[in-house]
Amino acid sequence: MIHTRISGTGSYLPGEPVSNAALIAAHGLDSSGEWIVERTGIRSRHLAAEGIACSDLALEASRRALDAAGRKPADVDLIIVATSTPDFVFPSAAALLQHKLGITNGAPAFDVQAVCSGFVYALTIAEKFIASGSHKCALVVGAEVFSRILDWKDRGTCVLFGDGAGAVVLEASDTPGLLASAFHADGSHHGILSVPGQICGGVATGDPFLRMDGQAVFKFAVKVLADVANEVLAAAGMTAAQVDWLIPHQANVRILQATAKKLHIPPEKCIVTVDRHGNTSAASIPLALDDAVRGGKIQRGQHLLLEGVGGGFTWGATLLRF
Ligand code: UT7
Repeated sequence: MIHTRISGTGSYLPGEPVSNAALIAAHGLDSSGEWIVERTGIRSRHLAAEGIACSDLALEASRRALDAAGRKPADVDLIIVATSTPDFVFPSAAALLQHKLGITNGAPAFDVQAVCSGFVYALTIAEKFIASGSHKCALVVGAEVFSRILDWKDRGTCVLFGDGAGAVVLEASDTPGLLASAFHADGSHHGILSVPGQICGGVATGDPFLRMDGQAVFKFAVKVLADVANEVLAAAGMTAAQVDWLIPHQANVRILQATAKKLHIPPEKCIVTVDRHGNTSAASIPLALDDAVRGGKIQRGQHLLLEGVGGGFTWGATLLRF
């Protein structure tokens, strides 16, 4: 049986952190740092400068993940980028990333669009390719420039998001790494979180900005995150008590705490980066993973539970031995 394991992680955040106070001042928002911290836990985020695109962030995160794995770009035989904010309508950010990394071996490259669940989706897909024996070394990336789809006049959404990228190298292995994965979607909830604009004749028409019913998303998120976490634990024959680190999608510290509580996982076992990164959508889980690996919290051999939820609605989880 071919197993898959993460051999290296990397991440990249553009520019300097932007504090709540600086964001409020820059956009003349009717808000306060106290409101943002109390309701979301967010204190700062990073925002990409004009001209910096999704594949640029993905490139830096990928280089760091390849270094950590001891791999060269030429070793990669599959590239998947999870993003809802790619450089172009097409080609994919993954194809651009392949080119920027100088990969000329014809490795397949494609984007996955599952919004904030995108990284868990991409990891699950890559795992199936490797387990089938068709591929051996996948670069799996979550990269976003959500700042480009924010309405800076909408205080209910623009304070929540940030830009960044996280990446992992996923390789065939003799010993188990990824233990169980599950991913789901229910398109009937499409209206509570969306960017409803359309591309028509090469022009974005209608409303090109992110729109969200925050409270509806909050309730849905807590329910499905706990359900899908229990699903992968059951599939692996494990209990929540055996999880060393919970790495949820970083949307709101209150969602993270509520999910951990539902799973009976103590808050100190929950990796939190939303305070420093904001919500970076598909990038948030690999960013949090790399932050905790490089910070010395996550050690080899530990059990990690990754879980995400986002527009679509989509949700999923992966349980792995690191
Ligand atoms: O990645 C997945 C996608 N997103 C999420 O997971 C986000 C899920 N939802 C949430 O995180 C929360 O619902 C929010 C952080 C978006 C909002 O928190 P809330 O506690 O649900 O607040 P609310 O929407 O009920 O708004 C409470 C009040 C409202 O004023 P009134 O109607 O009570 O007068 C809002 O207009 O807070 C107001 N408000 C703000 N006030 C100051 C909304 N945004 C702001 C703001 N600053 N930035």
